[in-house]
Amino acid sequence: MKVRFADRMNTSTRSFIREILKVAESPDIISFAGGLPSPQSFPQRELAEAAQVVMSETPDQALQYSATEGFLPLRQWIADRYRMRFGWEVSSDEILITNGSQQGVDLLGKILLNAGDSVVMEAPGYLGAWQAFALYQPEVFTVPLEADGPNLERLEQLLEQHPVRMMYVAPNFQNPSGITYSERKRRAVASLLRKHETILIEDDPYGELRFEGTAPSSFRTYLNNQCCVLGTFSKMVSPGLRIGWVYAPAEVMEKLVIAKQAADLQSNHLAQRIIHTYLIQNDVDRHLNEIQRLYRERRDLMLDCLKAAFPADVKFNKPQGGMFLWGELPNSVDVQLWLERAIRNRVAFVPGAAFYPQGDAPSSLRLNFSNADPGSIETGIQRLRKAYG
Ligand SMILES: Cc1ncc(COP(=O)(O)O)c(C=O)c1O
Repeated sequence: MKVRFADRMNTSTRSFIREILKVAESPDIISFAGGLPSPQSFPQRELAEAAQVVMSETPDQALQYSATEGFLPLRQWIADRYRMRFGWEVSSDEILITNGSQQGVDLLGKILLNAGDSVVMEAPGYLGAWQAFALYQPEVFTVPLEADGPNLERLEQLLEQHPVRMMYVAPNFQNPSGITYSERKRRAVASLLRKHETILIEDDPYGELRFEGTAPSSFRTYLNNQCCVLGTFSKMVSPGLRIGWVYAPAEVMEKLVIAKQAADLQSNHLAQRIIHTYLIQNDVDRHLNEIQRLYRERRDLMLDCLKAAFPADVKFNKPQGGMFLWGELPNSVDVQLWLERAIRNRVAFVPGAAFYPQGDAPSSLRLNFSNADPGSIETGIQRLRKAYG
């Protein structure tokens, strides 16, 4: 029998990046392709101790089913951290624990989008969000990103021409471009969205990985309840634990909880308790400082190696945080061919075109600088140069 799938499955394909990652998993390939944190950033001993505490002190609770909304002390910790970082009055009731922020993206798509609804996404943009939303069959419009945020004329035009239901952005050290929206653009985008009553999803997995400069305001400051914020412990503690969250106003939370119940009842309760115990038993800011120092060194090393190896018409930006560099090349360069040669030379990256699912990509690439150690960064960039020709 031929299986007949739902129409929505025609709208999304397997992630190109996951396919590259499979190739890049071979141990002799140096991969700048994935979005992996450094294993050095995982607080391994501290998490082992936290797991030990949870399993010896509260095993009956930790191994039991629990609330869909998440482990209350962890939700409270997240609310308190927002108060500390931004001065916001956040209630733990406004925090939903999810399986990574990826599930937050998916659940928001599920509760907000009908088939055919208009959505605005960034170009280049985070493929995981494209993939998640595509399953809800919206009409996706893109707004090109500039060095300081989206092109405002295009955004205004889109909002004037279409009843846009929602806009999705990753304004801090964006994946893939590494850019951060300026305060001016945040204010301007918020003002346009307010005028058109369009809800904003601010996906912020990298905000705490700032190693230079000062943080601009969250969109929440300008949009209040017209904005949902996604966060995650993936980059600050461990992605393997799969714990993230959505910060959303009460009316959105109510629907999110229903969607989450339908999807998986709750996130891993044991993992939530282990993370919470880790957070209250350790100095998280010191841990974050160490990650920031590590990533800053790797960014600088990668940029130095690139500068020494490539001609001046290959241009890389210098993000103030996060995990990615973005490079722009002369239009004559065939990036796909370069990737094929690079993989034969045992180094991998992601061509920029992968982040423009609707086409129109400049000749570009994304490089991850967080995962490879310094020796591998040096060797990898040399291999990349050799493959460039
Ligand atoms: C912009 C963005 N959003 C969400 C995610 C998913 O992260 P998580 O591990 O929290 O699901 C990523 C991961 O790379 C990302 O770059």
